[in-house]
Amino acid sequence: MQRIALLTSGGDSPGMNACIRAVVRKAIYHGLEVLGIKRGYNGFVEADIAPMNLGSVADIILRGGTILRTARSDQFMNPVGRAKANENVKRFGIQGLIVIGGDGSFRGAKVFNQEYGLPVVGIPGTIDNDIPGTDQTIGFDTAVSTAVEAISKIRDTATSHERTFIIEVMGRRCGYIALAAGLAGGAESILIPEYPFDYDEICDRLMRGYRRGKMHSIIVVAEGVASSLEVGRKISERTGFDTKVIILGHLQRGGMPSATDVILASRMGAKAVELLMAGETKKLIGVRAAQITATDIDDALSQTKSIDMELYDLAGVLSI
Ligand code: F6P
Repeated sequence: MQRIALLTSGGDSPGMNACIRAVVRKAIYHGLEVLGIKRGYNGFVEADIAPMNLGSVADIILRGGTILRTARSDQFMNPVGRAKANENVKRFGIQGLIVIGGDGSFRGAKVFNQEYGLPVVGIPGTIDNDIPGTDQTIGFDTAVSTAVEAISKIRDTATSHERTFIIEVMGRRCGYIALAAGLAGGAESILIPEYPFDYDEICDRLMRGYRRGKMHSIIVVAEGVASSLEVGRKISERTGFDTKVIILGHLQRGGMPSATDVILASRMGAKAVELLMAGETKKLIGVRAAQITATDIDDALSQTKSIDMELYDLAGVLSI
């Protein structure tokens, strides 16, 4: 293996740059050449590809976003786009591809590997923590900290005005950000897509708190559950509490990555290069019990990531 290429795809996540840096530096350390593909799979199809060197990744380790930029590519979803990408594989002499992204990005990599045989390694980079085969994804830790910081600020004003706040966090169809941020932020209730919720139970909990003299509450809602505006309206109607809704949105994707994310990204990036050098052809990197792992992409994608119900139950107990 002489020349590998690298792209970031899907929603950006804090730590992607640290991962790009790790891939480039580890590859160069072993004498490989690295090509950076811009704008996700779009750049793969459109030949937006350029060599990277040690200087290309200088000073990016703690920067949020991705210097390679990213996209959710429609072009790569169809065979014509993938055939064009394969022309670029030949034109640029690409012998292996590393994709930092989420499950949609890995599905694309898997299909391309099946069709054209290019060795591919996926690295889970998404704030959602929804990738099977890994305990944690790059960016999740930072996004949770960002959400907790927001909860802490909202808590100040919630207490002062004796209000109930509904805080919507990202996560697509997965409740991990909500669960972790809700537990760390001391939320009264956490609504996640993996577990049915009941307005009676939520309102009973709020009323119990109210009878104990608790005049403010925080409810964290994962975006995949329901409209947070609707949740706020229903809770306000049932309890009569002054209720506000805030949607944290894309600010959860930005900012300096946490040290945990930078270390994870560095380890995963280095491992991806090792796997390509060892002749692996379709692997997904993960971290299990603090060890960096590699699973067959097909095996990983055939599973669903389950939520940690122990954590969910604990959050319920502690917010009684
Ligand atoms: O997958 C990351 C994520 O931020 C999800 O949490 C969210 O549902 C989605 O991306 C938003 O995507 P976009 O930036 O395309 O609106």
